[in-house]
Amino acid sequence: MAQDSTNSISFELKKVDEKIRNILFENNNFLTENFIDFILNGSKKIRSAVAILSVKSFGYDVSDEQTTICALGEIIHNASLIHDDIVDKSDVRRGKPTLNSTLGNSVAVLGGDFLISVVLKELLKFNNDNVLRRFSNMFLTLCDGEINQLGEKNQLVSIEKYLEKSEKKTAELFKTILFSVFAVDDLQKHFDFAEKFGKNFGLAFQIRDDVLNYCSKSTDKPVLSDYENGICTLPIIFYAEEKNIEDFCKIKISEVQNSSAVGKSIEVCEKFVNIALDLTADFSDNQYADALKNLCQDLKRI
Ligand code: FPP
Ligand code: MG
Repeated sequence: MAQDSTNSISFELKKVDEKIRNILFENNNFLTENFIDFILNGSKKIRSAVAILSVKSFGYDVSDEQTTICALGEIIHNASLIHDDIVDKSDVRRGKPTLNSTLGNSVAVLGGDFLISVVLKELLKFNNDNVLRRFSNMFLTLCDGEINQLGEKNQLVSIEKYLEKSEKKTAELFKTILFSVFAVDDLQKHFDFAEKFGKNFGLAFQIRDDVLNYCSKSTDKPVLSDYENGICTLPIIFYAEEKNIEDFCKIKISEVQNSSAVGKSIEVCEKFVNIALDLTADFSDNQYADALKNLCQDLKRI
């Protein structure tokens, strides 16, 4: 994500950081510093940026409750990454050692559980059924997406299954945060935008992440780690289709990078970005709407 796209909301994003820090200090334990370091250093907070830019594009100021929703969304996102790194046996995230690699799996599992519990406790304070329902649905959907992925390990899946899993494990959190920033301020008229924009932006985001795993530009995790973990992503699906391969283990991974599968995957990513962009067409001309559109365009830069 280019820094320029979020310059106009740097004040609001700092407030999200402050909120995260306050929530974690209020629920202090020996992992607090690790959590703060993991969540605040190196994260682009793209979910918060999408939510804040959407709120401001519609002409609202960001309320304290909306800032809290963003903070809770970021905490959940990071809890899911802590768990994801255990599942993927990853040693590095955002260029730094993961919690599982430094403190072991037991601490990392419980650390992630703790963060989820903190978020649940904080969510109850809103006393808002729409927010609670949306978040609880998201917890279920996220886990379901990850469990499906585990069940399909080392298997070739269809594009439809890949998109379904990606919507669950990634787009669902974008949708939830976006929906909840409107729900917490009783702005029902924007729910439809939230669900649709979150879905399409989230899908493009995951496809981009999956394509980057086949490019040397990937800085966040080792290149080809998805394949090594038996995870079937879009480049593999297109490559297998092209070569008529029916067995995941028969994929010649070195060929995928230089095949047309990468370009075809980028086209699918662009398709979802364009749907997200169409949803912003009704925004009146303002710097926040422009920034949100830039954020979409950033996803096309692979
Ligand atoms: C990163 O995807 C991981 C996710 C999008 C979701 C992970 C969800 C869980 C582990 C379920 C637990 C849920 C909660 C609420 C804690 P990736 O592996 O494709 O991306 P990466 O490249 O960042 O590793
Ligand atoms: Mg992963």
